[in-house]
Amino acid sequence: MRISNRLKCISEFVEDNDKIIDIGCDHALLDIYLMNNKNNINLIASDIHEGAIKNAKKNISKHALLDKIDLRLGDGLNVINENEVDTIIIAGMGYYSIEKILSNSEKMNKIKKIIVQSNTDVVKLRKFIIKLGYKIEDELLVKDKDIIYTIIKFTLGKEKYSYEEIYFGPKILSKKDDLFLEYYNKKLLKYENLLLQLPKYEIKNILHHKHLIRIIKKELSK
Ligand SMILES: C[S@@+](CC[C@H](N)C(=O)[O-])C[C@H]1O[C@@H](n2cnc3c(N)ncnc32)[C@H](O)[C@@H]1O
Repeated sequence: MRISNRLKCISEFVEDNDKIIDIGCDHALLDIYLMNNKNNINLIASDIHEGAIKNAKKNISKHALLDKIDLRLGDGLNVINENEVDTIIIAGMGYYSIEKILSNSEKMNKIKKIIVQSNTDVVKLRKFIIKLGYKIEDELLVKDKDIIYTIIKFTLGKEKYSYEEIYFGPKILSKKDDLFLEYYNKKLLKYENLLLQLPKYEIKNILHHKHLIRIIKKELSK
């Protein structure tokens, strides 16, 4: 089965024996791929929308996996019971939806690993999940249909990070591959253009973007 580059990279952070919930599974393409490529995983695929669950069921049935993937309709972590899950996957949602879902502290009790791809505010996402008691185990940038996404694997634990590590991502910063250069060269251009357009009274915003431009330039020149 063919899946997108983004979903394939997410799947690479899943390990054999994980007890997973994929929250917001939609089409369930990732779940079908995981079930066919990982050993001994338990997999709950959930979505808040009935239409998505119907679509997922159709796809899962085509691959004869209805008895292996546990499909559930509902909001975030509300669909799981104690001890069913140790790994959360959330991909393709915005930061505030992800924050809301992971704020269900009672259900987060047994979660050892969070694999996450947010469509927005990756810096806020790092800060938030680190505050919940997780560290960044691995992360990467991936390009899919001309969009560059950040995928992060958090595991339980404490680690201190510098401002730059939170901003760029500690593992992404240490790899600094071609995608990093592409992504931050584009961001630099965007922020420089923005600075030209910001009205003078937006002092806080101007200073913030000047600061970002400085740290991006510094990393690009290293
Ligand atoms: C853009 S799709 C992403 C699908 C897939 N995870 C991916 O990355 O390709 C987002 C999905 O999340 C679901 N969703 C949004 N909020 C949710 C919540 N609170 N609980 C469960 N599912 C949710 C939506 O119904 C939608 O199907």
